[in-house]
Amino acid sequence: MPFPMQRLRRTRSSRALRSLVRETRLSPSDFVYPIFVTVGEDVRNPVSSMPGIFQLSINHAVAETRRAQELGISGVLLFGVPEEKDEAASGAYDPEGIVQLATRAIKDAMPEMIVVTDVCLCEYMSHGHCGVVEKGTGEILNDISLELLARTAASQAEAGADVVAPSDMMDGRVAAIRSELDNEGFQNTPIMAYAAKYASAFYGPFREAAESAPAFGDRRSYQMDPANAREALLEVELDIEEGADIVMVKPALPYLDVLHRVKEATNLPVAAYSVSGEYAMIKAAAQNGWLDERAVVLEALTGIKRAGADIIVSYHAPEVARWLS
Ligand code: PBG
Repeated sequence: MPFPMQRLRRTRSSRALRSLVRETRLSPSDFVYPIFVTVGEDVRNPVSSMPGIFQLSINHAVAETRRAQELGISGVLLFGVPEEKDEAASGAYDPEGIVQLATRAIKDAMPEMIVVTDVCLCEYMSHGHCGVVEKGTGEILNDISLELLARTAASQAEAGADVVAPSDMMDGRVAAIRSELDNEGFQNTPIMAYAAKYASAFYGPFREAAESAPAFGDRRSYQMDPANAREALLEVELDIEEGADIVMVKPALPYLDVLHRVKEATNLPVAAYSVSGEYAMIKAAAQNGWLDERAVVLEALTGIKRAGADIIVSYHAPEVARWLS
């Protein structure tokens, strides 16, 4: 005697029945698409470890965002690749910085499209760390970094960002950003906090794309140990207390258990960032003919949604949106 689910699979209308009882459904609107914006005119630099991804000058970033909008993708997440870097990350909070300019251009062209801006210093620091580094000791100075992060977020909100997304993992940054946003008149700008961000080797290709590999040391003094899950819940709790509106887990695939636990622990929207290394792995295998790219991407992203993601940040977003339509 067949079990109930088998009975559903075996009727003549099994396709429709399978669809009727399907628990998880991807939609283009689940997605936020990361874009690397760079200076210059008409630039489209391929990122070698991320086939299909480019550093784009503002005109191309606007065009790429338009394409994403037409596919039904909810928003873009902007990362800046500035011309110059220094030890104060000045480019991060420059009102005429690359992300600020790109945000203005995209919002002017597409007021309805959600623009999320990355709040971090690593892309703008000559040493590539996410915070201010103390000379001599090489230590990351948490509290001084908070001021710069808060200024960065406010300048992005000023430029029209709909959501700011701190990815630096400094302690107390959500509170610092919230208070600066409130003081500057951006009480309604939500914060999507990278609450549980692991010190992951899966960020490798991103550091090529954003030109943000640390020149010395690593990020383990501020990002989380991949071995810890309860710590993620603690980080999430603290970020919520400090004023996070959306909490994020990053990377996604190696941390589906964490994603699931975070989803159970909060009623706030939960985002998952399927990072550059997850993208690169699938692309590389597909290019070798070792995996069926479309099937694998849809399976991986469905798994991320099933585990609890309300929002998925993914470099696959445009191709997925096309497959889904
Ligand atoms: C910067 C930042 C990183 C990513 C997003 N924001 C890299 C890092 O922490 O080194 C990684 C995203 C990806 O790999 O796709 N703080």
